[in-house]
Amino acid sequence: MTHFLDIHKTDPTALRQMIDHARAMKDARAGRPKGTPDDEQPLKGRMVALIFEKPSTRTRISFDVGVRQMGGETMVLSGGDMQLGHGETIADTARVLSRYVDLIMIRTFEEDTLLEMADYADVPVINGLTNRTHPCQIMADVMTFEEHRGPIDGAKVTWCGDGNNVFASFAHAAGQFGFDLTFSGPAQLDPEDDALGFARKAGASVAIERDPVAAVSGADLVVADTWISMHDSQTARERRHNMLRPYQVNEALMEHAKDDALFMHCLPAHRDEEATSAVMDGPHSVIFDEAENRLHAQKAIMRWCLGV
Ligand code: CP
Ligand code: NVA
Repeated sequence: MTHFLDIHKTDPTALRQMIDHARAMKDARAGRPKGTPDDEQPLKGRMVALIFEKPSTRTRISFDVGVRQMGGETMVLSGGDMQLGHGETIADTARVLSRYVDLIMIRTFEEDTLLEMADYADVPVINGLTNRTHPCQIMADVMTFEEHRGPIDGAKVTWCGDGNNVFASFAHAAGQFGFDLTFSGPAQLDPEDDALGFARKAGASVAIERDPVAAVSGADLVVADTWISMHDSQTARERRHNMLRPYQVNEALMEHAKDDALFMHCLPAHRDEEATSAVMDGPHSVIFDEAENRLHAQKAIMRWCLGV
């Protein structure tokens, strides 16, 4: 079964093919109304379940539109509406869903839920975000970087803020695509060693730099994300904000990056917290290209999973 569970668990040649395929599919649709079908209909007759145990705008809509453009049908399900939210096991849910649908995308809390779904499903499972990783986002981000600046191999990428799930997938991508990655944030919010270890073992240069100015100096890409993720408790809000404020991406900080550096944020953003509106709407920002590229990257991921 070809699941897309994480970037570090996927063959790097397949990852490269997915990015290139996504770009080709995007080019082939250029200028068309969003609702028109692709020339190729590789998902014709296929049914895709999109399960959300957390809120979503981009993931929900980009997967739904992507499936439809490729000729398939979707069912968008919220965890709470399913028996999954009322005590039915993940394993039973996976086996039942596999009798109805051809592909499952799930956004959930614990990574174990995703892994159990994949273990018991007879159809491919795609990770639409867990507390630990967000691989579909970073596939779109790699695609976006390369559209603007060419191969990401050897680029210097700096992350400012919380060492969270989106950062972990960046670290996995650093290993698989060969870019240098610097984490800049408070020690209390350092990323998990596993993700950094994977990147290092794969030969990527990975650094932790507490000084945001030093971290951003000479960067080709600066990345921010929300200071409080969906799985974080709101009770620590003020303490986290105080710790993270020095890592806000603002115009003064971006001055230290390369002149043609890009700025990314997976969105949703809390404007003027992790990044200022001046940066988000400024000349370095490619945040809406990232959002668009979720659509194209995920279409390539789904086709890879289904072998179509
Ligand atoms: N970036 C991202 O995954 O956005 P949503 O939470 O809106 O899906
Ligand atoms: N780190 C964020 C990403 C949202 C797309 C979260 O998990 O809430």
